[in-house]
Amino acid sequence: MKYITFALAKGRLAKKSMDLFAQIGITCEEMNDPNTRKLIFTNEELGYKFFLAKASDVPTYVEYGAADIGIVGKDTILEEGRNLYEVYDLGFGKCRMCVCGPESAKELLNGHEMIRVASKYPHIAKDYFYNKKHQTVEIIKLNGSVELAPIVGLSEVIVDIVETGTTLRENGLQVLEEVCPLSARVVVNQVSMKMENERITKIIQDLRKILEVTEG
Ligand code: PRP
Repeated sequence: MKYITFALAKGRLAKKSMDLFAQIGITCEEMNDPNTRKLIFTNEELGYKFFLAKASDVPTYVEYGAADIGIVGKDTILEEGRNLYEVYDLGFGKCRMCVCGPESAKELLNGHEMIRVASKYPHIAKDYFYNKKHQTVEIIKLNGSVELAPIVGLSEVIVDIVETGTTLRENGLQVLEEVCPLSARVVVNQVSMKMENERITKIIQDLRKILEVTEG
């Protein structure tokens, strides 16, 4: 039997995904060893392989077919813009992509101002400002702690993920506009979807059943 390979975004999503998979009988004993340095894990009996990757690389592995199925945030899917099927919203890891800044920056979002926008998500930021708001802006790509940018004067606003809003609050910033809601998604390689349709469809159906029960 051919293996079905899963690429999981490292961190919180991976842990939650494996807990969920366990509920539908998709398990991987090897993965539970906290001291392992292994990168890929196999369940020979069930014909599954799992690997953990940097979130932004998950869509790449799935597009090229190195993984059949990926679990990754909608933010990464939008930013990477890969050719793949997004088949299911797992409903966890819920947060929002927002334009944030100090209250004083609100008036700069009227569509006419040439402002600087800092973000870890330059494509999402560009798409939002150019295609939705029709506002010409300068996008500045950062790699983390994006909230710093408006505080130290690198940019007027940021486009970033807001979960609890604590980071914004503690830094005197606020949500100015919402770009889109986010959550963890299941993505599938386009060829795998045809070649392994039965097995992949079964996995999605099982996940749906479990999550519908949990949601009541
Ligand atoms: C994310 C995001 C915000 C923060 C939002 O950052 O970029 O900074 O979490 O969460 P909150 O609304 O609950 O405060 P992350 O922790 O991934 O770190 P990074 O920005 O340095 O990459």
